[in-house]
Amino acid sequence: MIPDKAPGEDVLHASGDLKKGAHVPSFEKYKELYVKSIESPEEFWGDFAKDFFWKTKYTGKFLDYNFDVTKGAIYVKCMEGALTNICYNVLDRNVHDRKLGDKVAFYWEGNEPGDEKTVTYRELLQRVCKFANVLKSQGVKKGDRVSIYMPMVVELVEAMLACARIGAVHSIVFAGFSSESLCERIMDSRCSLLITADGFYRGDKLINLKLIADEALEKCRDKSFPVEKCIMLKHLTKEDESTVHGSLSPPAKRACSDLQVPWNPEVDMCWHSLVCGVSEECEPVWCDSEDPLFILYTSGSTGKPKGVLHTVSGYMLYTAATFKMVFDYHPDDVYWCTADIGWITGHSYITYGPLANGATSVLFEGLPTYPDVSRMWEIVDKYHVSKFYTAPTAIRLLMKFGSEPVQKYKRDSLKILGTVGEPINPEAWQWYYNVVGEKRCPVVDTFWQTETGGHVMTPLPAATPMKPGSATFPFFGVVPAILNESGEELDGPSEGYLVFKQPWPGVMRTVYGNHQRFETTYFKKFPGYYVTGDGCRRDKDGYYWITGRIDDMLNVSGHLLSTAEVESALVEHEAVAEAAVVGRPHLVKGESLYCFVTLNDGISYNQKLEAELKKQVRVKIGAIATPDFIQNAPGLPKTRSGKIMRRVLRKIACNERDLGDVSTLADSSVIDQLFENRCCTGV
Ligand code: WTA
Repeated sequence: MIPDKAPGEDVLHASGDLKKGAHVPSFEKYKELYVKSIESPEEFWGDFAKDFFWKTKYTGKFLDYNFDVTKGAIYVKCMEGALTNICYNVLDRNVHDRKLGDKVAFYWEGNEPGDEKTVTYRELLQRVCKFANVLKSQGVKKGDRVSIYMPMVVELVEAMLACARIGAVHSIVFAGFSSESLCERIMDSRCSLLITADGFYRGDKLINLKLIADEALEKCRDKSFPVEKCIMLKHLTKEDESTVHGSLSPPAKRACSDLQVPWNPEVDMCWHSLVCGVSEECEPVWCDSEDPLFILYTSGSTGKPKGVLHTVSGYMLYTAATFKMVFDYHPDDVYWCTADIGWITGHSYITYGPLANGATSVLFEGLPTYPDVSRMWEIVDKYHVSKFYTAPTAIRLLMKFGSEPVQKYKRDSLKILGTVGEPINPEAWQWYYNVVGEKRCPVVDTFWQTETGGHVMTPLPAATPMKPGSATFPFFGVVPAILNESGEELDGPSEGYLVFKQPWPGVMRTVYGNHQRFETTYFKKFPGYYVTGDGCRRDKDGYYWITGRIDDMLNVSGHLLSTAEVESALVEHEAVAEAAVVGRPHLVKGESLYCFVTLNDGISYNQKLEAELKKQVRVKIGAIATPDFIQNAPGLPKTRSGKIMRRVLRKIACNERDLGDVSTLADSSVIDQLFENRCCTGV
């Protein structure tokens, strides 16, 4: 499956300098470790586990599982019976055992240049303990779910680690989601408390987050799920907090006195007042390896988001190991992942993975284009970033402005570049490699999912010869296969469904509250395999190339959206009878949303309605799901059984006349009409 020797042609190799001292310095070493990870997982992972603190040892097998639905319920257990605490391992262990208390954990860089602060491991530990004590005093106990809806601030990391410290389960909702989406997630995970902030700036746009959070709580109340407690961080509004937070009070640049923050004294509490005078010590709650750590929602093809559940030890080992090996982490690195903590990339590669290694990271609140398109490179130079991890959509966006904004800055600290979130087109890959990294820095194209917990297909920077656009080979412990439609494993060069044959420590354990959905979504189509939902090609050298989603999911700027979710938001509008949503390739975003709507009788399509429909989706789901195109479609192409033929709609959206086989179409006259009515003629 992995070639005997690294191919020499049409591939790029890391420089000799990088290989010196690398954790995995050669392709041969990668192969050797890979075999060990599959044949002796206990020994392989034991090398990582020995660095962590375990209150008690595990009792059963290292990895116990059933991956085959025909043999009973699906389960995965890693180190069950061992007691530990992930917060203790990422903070106390670094401060006390590894003497890293004075090391910087985060350089926080705000939306406005110059708005910054530095937090050491010791400070982070104290702050987390204080906030954990606050949560305890609010009655939060082990196993309780806490919803977190916050901008990219250090307190977001504090809130998640405080939950982990007391065994509570955090459910972070990306701060770009709407009140409806937040309400749905709070109710699905039955959260007892919400942590949010007054507001934040995204570029020059002010977001009144508390207002949206309040709307969400109002919606929960209407649906008979009252959340009695809401803790709000004052991030923008001024307060006399200098005594509480020392140097961390908001500087004048950020402070915003115009923000009208709604306040409900029955429910709302101020973060700063709560932590005032609270003890900086908090004994961690020892958790079983398989106790839940967090829930994170991801789009599902049926429309309703799935609460992906991860547990303590497997996730800890896996994020720590992938971070160390994939970014070839060394203690003097400054690492920067530009993702938002509201997505899995932020969970695994801003919070848990880097902190588990005692790394120094940049935590960035702003945008790559604000105040100008050099911002990223300015930050790279400012903090001497050596490992940089971003998304293809950001690369494509910056690429449009050429190399000059990049070359204004030195970037000589950079050693490794990473990407995640969607397939990276070779052109963007080359620009990233040639212009940003000046051909010095290997690019690690990391394929993974919310469900996988951490990287599953990825190069190792000093070991794996790169091919632009390929996620290359499996990470340790991961056994991929490519299946055809009948579920047969394909050998050699081939294309089909990407699946995994056995679990690795970081794989999700269930869909919160719905184990059956977990089994149906990932294990039913091909018994014995975890089905990723992505297509994949293997080339003659054994390299894997992810070709994109094969289910009804879209990937817009690296964010997964289900077509069903957007469709249901559209049909909730009184003018809409039916809606069908497809992806249309987009140069920067990867895919854009092209929506076809059939209106109710007697209603005519106009710009006002179009604006209303766009708003409807934004309000229901969030700004990331705003449709790019809406087309009035009096009829939709359907099979005789009534199934909408999305394949045909995708072609229409792209103005491609070759529709393939349309013999199953019930009424072929709709096709001409749809082509005539295309809303982006000429593109
Ligand atoms: C896509 C993000 C190609 C893929 C960590 C996957 C990728 C989905 C890559 C998961 C990559 C992510 N190459 N496609 N390097 N990384 N994807 O859950 O379709 O937000 O299934 O996790 O993103 O998105 P999610």
